Amino acid sequence: MPAILLTGATGYIGSHTWLALQSAGFDVIGVDSLVNSSPKVLDRLTELGGREPVFVEGDVRDAAALDRCFELAGTRFGGISAVVHFAALKAVGESNERPLDYYENNLGGLLSVCQAMKRHGVTDLVFSSSATVYGKPESLPITESAALKATNPYGQTKLIGEELLRGLEQCDASWHFAYLRYFNPVGAHPSGRIGEDPRGIPNNLMPYVAQVAVGKRAHLNVFGNDYDTPDGTGVRDYIHVCDLAEGHVAALRYLAEQKRSLTVNLGTGQGYSVLDLARAYGEAADREIPVVFAPRRPGDIDACYADPAKAFETMGWRATRGLAEMCADSWRWQSSNPNGFEA
Ligand code: NAD
Ligand code: UD1
Repeated sequence: MPAILLTGATGYIGSHTWLALQSAGFDVIGVDSLVNSSPKVLDRLTELGGREPVFVEGDVRDAAALDRCFELAGTRFGGISAVVHFAALKAVGESNERPLDYYENNLGGLLSVCQAMKRHGVTDLVFSSSATVYGKPESLPITESAALKATNPYGQTKLIGEELLRGLEQCDASWHFAYLRYFNPVGAHPSGRIGEDPRGIPNNLMPYVAQVAVGKRAHLNVFGNDYDTPDGTGVRDYIHVCDLAEGHVAALRYLAEQKRSLTVNLGTGQGYSVLDLARAYGEAADREIPVVFAPRRPGDIDACYADPAKAFETMGWRATRGLAEMCADSWRWQSSNPNGFEA
């Protein structure tokens, strides 16, 4: 059976999706430049998946590296049936400092992946989009038909990426794309063997809280407590990374069976505040998470949570793991790997 090609395969979401695909009976081939992930992920995937991952180290902007993936899949499996394109740079703050790098990597990478697919006759692609494409939402929960607006170069790469693919589809109906708009992926594989391993100071909330819990940071800075939310702190739709990974399996099945494109939110539909999350994490780790109120982070919004109904109606997928499980799984990963994959 043809395999699924994952770009950005050793990253946080890619590695969890790799396992979810294998559990669902798919063969997988991964490509990653390791610009934001560790090769040690491959050892953990071997351990958890019970077989050595088929992997190409390379940059998706390099046509020869992608051709190598297709050739390897031809000899190891029956070729490639679809691509899941995770490979991208994802730090919003950094994207404001290095916009050209973000445009080049994220948009150049997407174009290069589509060109390789065209060369090899593959037409199904799952695109990692983000709730960031909704900008500051006009109403909540957010449906897929809400207005789209990017407020930083990272967000622009997701919005333009979606537009570029929609343009391709219009010119050539053989392309089918799943535009998956992720809300806030958190947590880790329940084994505690793979998880999120940010370099430097974490930008996102749960990895920061995890480092406070494990004693690497003194306290959580809560960015703003005067938002228009029940406790004044920002509200987000946190989704367990294993639920998110399973959403990719559902999207690939949808593309293969329905032979048409699809745009869906991947979220739980439930919003939690910064203080809710810190409290839940403290319970999971059985320790208090000290918090200090700090000024708002520029560009942040009050609240953002999904209407996830369409994903269930179209692909039969819905998130099943709650906040306590997200925190418990994150804590298992963080406490047994305090230095991430470099431990
Ligand atoms: P990640 O950084 O852990 O994984 C991305 C992987 O892509 C990394 O392993 C990196 O080395 C690789 N990569 C980057 N540029 C590459 C290139 N040019 N060639 C080959 N490999 C390259 O990030 P993640 O959290 O796993 O995110 C995966 C995707 O999901 C990204 O497209 C991201 O924008 C999107 N997304 C993430 C979130 C989130 O909060 N984590 C939310 C919405 C969307
Ligand atoms: C961030 C990105 C967004 C991306 C999303 C995906 C920014 C500005 N936005 O959004 O583009 O799609 O991740 O996961 O980076 N918080 C604190 N203290 C911290 C860290 C965060 O109080 O140390 C607060 C934030 O103000 C926010 C909430 O926690 O209210 C969640 O923050 P974060 O995890 O960074 O996610 P988003 O802001 O949703």
